[in-house]
Amino acid sequence: MNKITTPPTLIMIFGATGDLAKRKLFPSLYQLYLKGSLEKRFAVLGIGRREWTNEQFTQHVRDSLENSSHDQDRIDSFIEHCTYESHDVEDSSSYIKLKERADELDQSFDLDGNRIFYLAMAPEFFGTITDHLKADGLTDTEGFCRLVIEKPFGHDLPSATALNKQIRQSFSEEQIYRIDHYLGKEMVQNIEVIRFANALFEPLWNSRFISNIQVTSSEVLGVEERGRYYEKSGALRDMVQNHMLQMVALLAMEPPISLSTDEIRSEKVRVLRALRPVEGKEVDDYFVRGQYGPDENGEIKGYRENSNVDSDSNTETYVAGKVMIDNFRWAGVPFYIRTGKSMSVKSTKIVVQFKDIPMNLYYNKEHSLDPNLLVIHIQPDEGITLHLNAKKSNLGTDTDCIKLSYSASSVDGINTPEAYEKLLLDCILGDATNFTHWDEVRHSWSFVDKISEHWESTKDETFPNYPAKSMGPAKSDEMLAKDGFEWWPVGEQDLEE
Ligand code: BG6
Repeated sequence: MNKITTPPTLIMIFGATGDLAKRKLFPSLYQLYLKGSLEKRFAVLGIGRREWTNEQFTQHVRDSLENSSHDQDRIDSFIEHCTYESHDVEDSSSYIKLKERADELDQSFDLDGNRIFYLAMAPEFFGTITDHLKADGLTDTEGFCRLVIEKPFGHDLPSATALNKQIRQSFSEEQIYRIDHYLGKEMVQNIEVIRFANALFEPLWNSRFISNIQVTSSEVLGVEERGRYYEKSGALRDMVQNHMLQMVALLAMEPPISLSTDEIRSEKVRVLRALRPVEGKEVDDYFVRGQYGPDENGEIKGYRENSNVDSDSNTETYVAGKVMIDNFRWAGVPFYIRTGKSMSVKSTKIVVQFKDIPMNLYYNKEHSLDPNLLVIHIQPDEGITLHLNAKKSNLGTDTDCIKLSYSASSVDGINTPEAYEKLLLDCILGDATNFTHWDEVRHSWSFVDKISEHWESTKDETFPNYPAKSMGPAKSDEMLAKDGFEWWPVGEQDLEE
């Protein structure tokens, strides 16, 4: 990233002793500091329930930077901007102390009263904190106030609506930055550019030329220590309601009339409004749920054996779905999505499959033409691959699939920033484009709620129905096979071939 100058800012992190702050937020802020985007006029106020001293906190921040840099001087000077305040989220007097501390930092670092409140903590406290921030005067400053809020944003539409209503009493929609960290990923941000900056794709980007689009986000890790959260969430709420549907929206949206936040978001909302709702028994035709059992060698335990997980749990750790977008552009084109834990590969990939050409001159019994594919590699590789047919290098007319690849991750000098780094920078700059608007959240919950209602009312007796370290239940392959398709493999290293 080139150096981008930011306005002076106080970044107040609620949940500063937690995992997210340690793994993502401090390293990202430090990167922004190294790149010069944060210079002298910034401060980080860590806020947590624990009675930590400043020294304990700064040591915690140092530990979090272990993998970022060994330049002690730079770390020392960054740490001079970091301080800690222990806090009780329910207690007004605690907020009054916090305000005094924020005002002091404002003075000493000359921050113009600009504040970001980052809620990196359990969602049950979101509403209480925002109520207090306003009531106890923390939002009462000369500068800007922004609220960054982590997922989950509610558990379903009614709870999300109630939470939104509560938050909106203290912050306007423009001040709220709802994080979906997929929107900070380099190649997710690239979807729009690939689509709207290439004459090659946009004319073909519709139901006349595309047969289906597949979006996969598979993880190798299981649920590990997150059983308590995951039992209530499952893959549908954890991944589909947000990350997966956001990628679908970016793939399916109409070209916005400009790149402004409002224009982009309103095009995404239009896609989410056009999702074909599926409910009741119909869900079984469009969605497949899975839960992992132990792997075939018995080395990895099944989901039900994790701590805080019911031994008879009905929670899905895998979802595959056929999402239909009922509008003119996409009529009849399935968007297949799948995501799961404890799968054989860690990969997030989009495969756009183009329709077969009307007449195949090169068909012979042994070999039919492969479809053209555009593969967008989101992680761990970052890049794109275009699958084309070309002549095999021999005397005949046999064809072969060739792959044109661009691998962003292997271009010298490109070190794509962490999603959180980009999102934090956007928030400091006041650019909300890559955060989710309430309307997006609302429409995606209303789509997902109907599926979860059906799943919660019917126990899946086949659970566990896929072994750990596999690509999910057979029913998922069958869903595509019924339409005459199959999942394109996501594990192969297209970019290196
Ligand atoms: C989070 C989910 O939002 O995304 C996790 O809560 C999941 O369960 C994670 O593991 C996946 O993110 P990434 O960036 O590793 O694909």
